[in-house]
Amino acid sequence: MILSIDDLRLRARRRLPRILFDWVEGGADDELGLDRARQCFESQRLVPRYGLDMSGRHLGTTLFGRVYDRPFGISPTGYTGLLRPCGEHLMLRAADRANIPYVLSGVSVAPLEQIAAASAGRAWYQLYPAREAGISQDIVRRARDAGYPTLVITADMPIEAKRERDIRNGFTLPLRYTPRLLWDGLSHPAWTLSYLRHGGLPPLGSWAAYASPGASSAGIAAFQFAQKYPTQTWADIEAYRAMWPGTLVVKGLLHPLDAQRALDCGADGIIVSNHGARQLDRALTPLEALPAIRRQVGQRMAIMLDGGIRRGSDIATALARGADFVFSGRAILYGLIADGETGANLAVDILTDELSRVMAQLGTHTTSELCDGILASVAAAPHS
Ligand SMILES: Cc1cc2nc3c(=O)[nH]c(=O)nc-3n(C[C@H](O)[C@H](O)[C@H](O)COP(=O)(O)O)c2cc1C
Repeated sequence: MILSIDDLRLRARRRLPRILFDWVEGGADDELGLDRARQCFESQRLVPRYGLDMSGRHLGTTLFGRVYDRPFGISPTGYTGLLRPCGEHLMLRAADRANIPYVLSGVSVAPLEQIAAASAGRAWYQLYPAREAGISQDIVRRARDAGYPTLVITADMPIEAKRERDIRNGFTLPLRYTPRLLWDGLSHPAWTLSYLRHGGLPPLGSWAAYASPGASSAGIAAFQFAQKYPTQTWADIEAYRAMWPGTLVVKGLLHPLDAQRALDCGADGIIVSNHGARQLDRALTPLEALPAIRRQVGQRMAIMLDGGIRRGSDIATALARGADFVFSGRAILYGLIADGETGANLAVDILTDELSRVMAQLGTHTTSELCDGILASVAAAPHS
């Protein structure tokens, strides 16, 4: 029976070859950051309020002038179409059904133009800049021409992280066909058959234009890998700002002065994030970082958060701590891996249902009422 995100996680683990599941699940170094993100949410105490008519609760939230039906969206995750055939299209459909934003990863299998066309200008695009500045600029131009309203620039990848699970597993992108991968694939026939039926390793759609003509999927992936980890400074963010007419979001900031810097560069919002604990293991968690960032930039830009969201109460907590909106990476990805579009829908519905129930317990009818007062550390003072 699937009741929770953790149930979906277990089902995803059964379906996916171990080497891929470890890549999804894993973090950097000792993976302390993964547990800390959860502990941070789990240690919060919420203060319920009763005696109120709690019918007519409303989860709708306005972000960048658009009304979404829930206060959360889907974080960008690379190679989604490798984890589940047509993964990016299925994620988009789940997002559209729930009227929430979907951020297409800069390393998607589906070409960025395809997702833009299918989303009628609703999906957001996340840029992974290339070492060759001309490629980055061309991708930004393509995203603009395709009609994406929002460009998300990921800031927290100055260097390759040390993910020891992946190193031990011999995991690389492009995938290397080793005896271990073969055995892993044979032990997970449902994934392997669907993967083979769709023609094997899918290409990185948006990058095909830059690799040598006629390059194989592996060749395109190798080309993209060689373009990774360019130096990216605030001057680059300013340059993207000048090129991008729409909403600009910087993802992966944790320091209040970096948030200020993003604001000074003309960003419309930031996503407070530690990349799901996949980059700097000892980084503070997004929830820990949030209050100081809110104090620094006030209401002058949208502050979003991702990392560690597995329950509706996590979303309520993040909003109460000062986030305008929340994103979820693995939680919805587990759903997609486990059961395609149905699974992604289920993950969205589980988070929605849990959030709605929590709001009813807290006496809040709208997400904007989720504020400091629902957190025990503040509300524990004698009630007047
Ligand atoms: C498998 C996987 C792939 C990811 N790929 C990207 C990516 O392509 N671009 C990006 O900005 N972040 C990427 N992230 C980070 C997510 O956008 C997000 O910050 C993180 O998953 C949030 O933590 P959560 O998974 O606990 O919700 C990835 C995360 C995972 C788990």
